[in-house]
Amino acid sequence: MPVITEIADLKRLYRRRVPKMFYDYAESGSWSEQTFRENVSDFNDIYLRQRIAVDMTGRTLATTMAGEEVAMPMALAPVGLLGMQSADGEIKAARAAEKAGIPFTLSTMSICSIEDVAEHTTKPFWFQVYTLKDDDFMSRLMQRAKDAKCSALVITVDLQILGQRHKDLKNGLSAPPKLTPASIANMATKVPWGLEMLGTKRRFFGNIVGHAKGVSDPSSLSSWTAEAFDHALDWDRIKELMDMWGGKVILKGILDVEDAVKAAELGADAIIVSNHGGRQLDGAMSSIRMLEPIVKAVGDKVEVWLDSGIRSGQDVLKAVALGARGVMLGRSYVYGLGAMGEAGVSKAIEVIGKELDTSMALCGKRDIRDVSREILQVPADFSGNFA
Ligand code: GLV
Repeated sequence: MPVITEIADLKRLYRRRVPKMFYDYAESGSWSEQTFRENVSDFNDIYLRQRIAVDMTGRTLATTMAGEEVAMPMALAPVGLLGMQSADGEIKAARAAEKAGIPFTLSTMSICSIEDVAEHTTKPFWFQVYTLKDDDFMSRLMQRAKDAKCSALVITVDLQILGQRHKDLKNGLSAPPKLTPASIANMATKVPWGLEMLGTKRRFFGNIVGHAKGVSDPSSLSSWTAEAFDHALDWDRIKELMDMWGGKVILKGILDVEDAVKAAELGADAIIVSNHGGRQLDGAMSSIRMLEPIVKAVGDKVEVWLDSGIRSGQDVLKAVALGARGVMLGRSYVYGLGAMGEAGVSKAIEVIGKELDTSMALCGKRDIRDVSREILQVPADFSGNFA
């Protein structure tokens, strides 16, 4: 087994192990992928201030996110189709998160169902929903999440229609994969993945198949989004869904100050500055560039988190220093899951945690809650200077 020291190592292993269709699903952005790329590269424009001769003993990364204690300022983001990256992937990721003391968020588009993940974990996880037209399905889904003791609902607010990712269309993405000459030829080169997949019954969208009505092809993410998602979504509908849940709500997918102000007014417990990993509006600003203006506008009213682009502990540190209470990891842990299952997710969290801890110390801080903008050197126009 190769020595794994960084997230890029996991990504290399992941690419080798998992069928192209699922690697491409995770590793793509919409259209030209500009936003997808800049989510990552824009972190390089921010510098950390090296400080010396500061006592580094007794460091802690522990904090809270939406009132929950977390061992590090991070949670695992909802990602669809985890159970195609590795057999029973959602259960594996949830277990790794639990061991690390950070929250796991189960996607509606998961392979393992809510009940299945609850049965195989001991701590409450979070559940993510899209805004769907079918109220009946929506309230049953929320009830299932309540019955499974999910402790917060993450409502995705930036995906009523799907941003086009060319590779998914070209690959004919579906779960389980449709057997075409190209997919068969590719899967034939992924034997360990295939053997594991044959050993599980969980190969369908577990929250959808058998629960949702009127979906023409329940194996296809694009049919499901086109047919079931609420294109008429507005703030009143978001409020209705928040009330329908009645518990903690995190609104995911806010990239604009005006929208953040509105979300704070609705009383969300946290908002996530996010462009859906560059998978929705291509050409939008990276999340890290939009973070600070949003924190300035609403940071005293609502917890602000960030996702999209985190590939290292240094990235987490920069986001926290710019005012994020915490971040969500997406692709970083998916690489680990595809590469090595549960152990790979644990490895991804460990790598990022260590990078965060060491970098925080080298910036002269011992407690993540004391990290602020003073540890950064940020270009004056980092968040734009637009009319
Ligand atoms: C779904 O949320 C996706 O990004 O594919």
